[in-house]
Amino acid sequence: MILITGGAGYIGAHVNKLINENGYQTIVLDNLKNSNQEMVKWGKFIKGDLNDENLISSIFKKYQIDIVIHLAELTSVSESVNNPSKYYENNYQYSVNLLNIAIRFNINKFIFSSTAAVYGNPKIIPISEKNACNPINPYGKSKLMFEEYLIKKSKEIENFNSVIFRFFNAAGADSNHEIGENHNPETHLIPIVLDVALGKRKKIGIFGADYPTPDGTCIRDYIHVNDIASAHLKVIDFLDKEKSDIFNLSMGKGFSVNEIIESCQRVTNSKIPHVIKNRRDGDPAILIADNKKVKKDLKWRTEFNQIDDIIKTSYNYQKKIN
Ligand code: UFG
Repeated sequence: MILITGGAGYIGAHVNKLINENGYQTIVLDNLKNSNQEMVKWGKFIKGDLNDENLISSIFKKYQIDIVIHLAELTSVSESVNNPSKYYENNYQYSVNLLNIAIRFNINKFIFSSTAAVYGNPKIIPISEKNACNPINPYGKSKLMFEEYLIKKSKEIENFNSVIFRFFNAAGADSNHEIGENHNPETHLIPIVLDVALGKRKKIGIFGADYPTPDGTCIRDYIHVNDIASAHLKVIDFLDKEKSDIFNLSMGKGFSVNEIIESCQRVTNSKIPHVIKNRRDGDPAILIADNKKVKKDLKWRTEFNQIDDIIKTSYNYQKKIN
């Protein structure tokens, strides 16, 4: 059985679906603070917090858990800048709590969702896993702190293995539109731009057009959420061979904020008005990953390789929930 923390969230719901479809049984643990129980259509759902030691222990006692996929986290870069302690508590301290209980119950496979934000403003692009980690916001710092703790435990404890996935920008939605991205409040670029196309917002504000990039707007490496999910499936076999490792998860291509707006205009066949705003604190100029390692070691491939195809799936989902 696989325990998925944060399985009612955007990425967690897609991971949970794919893993169930491939014959695994799952338990979803989620506090529903930034997620929705309606997203949990597979596996068994348990509502709770990661700092609830009694609850977590009772789950490991009651169910034969083989693997933990730890996706529960707070994800807003700007919120982390405004409220750093909330991020150190939720993303670091609660994760340490979960891991220590898992180890106490002899769990020996742990998959952790980390982030491109651990790299900060990278000196070398594309970013390989060997790049230095110098996060520039508390979100990235809180994730890096737990990475370091997990690596230490993986080295210390015989037969305990972990995989760290550093997600770049998750985007898109499952093709049958049962699940998708629906944060409240929404802070991510693609759903906000699509809201403008759907008439829910008047304009998209571009956070800075004076970055050292060809069009002055920030560049990100977007990856379809189902491609993130399929990497989790691949890593289950990898962990069976008892190895600990770190992998970037990305499409391996960069798109500026302007290019995302252009793609949304093509997909929705509408004109999307924009306005240039100040830079947002904590945003690196360019994040593009080198994803060769995950392709080689996990024999994983992205199914979605065109930004318009990714955005089409988001648009279909946004239309459905609007
Ligand atoms: N942006 C705008 N206007 C908006 C929203 C976003 O211009 O209204 C810009 C941001 O400044 C950034 C880009 O669009 O340059 C992407 O922003 P998102 O908020 O969609 O995503 P982030 O890059 O901030 O964050 C995401 C994940 C993090 C992860 C990070 C790594 O939420 O978990 O990608 O790149 F760490």
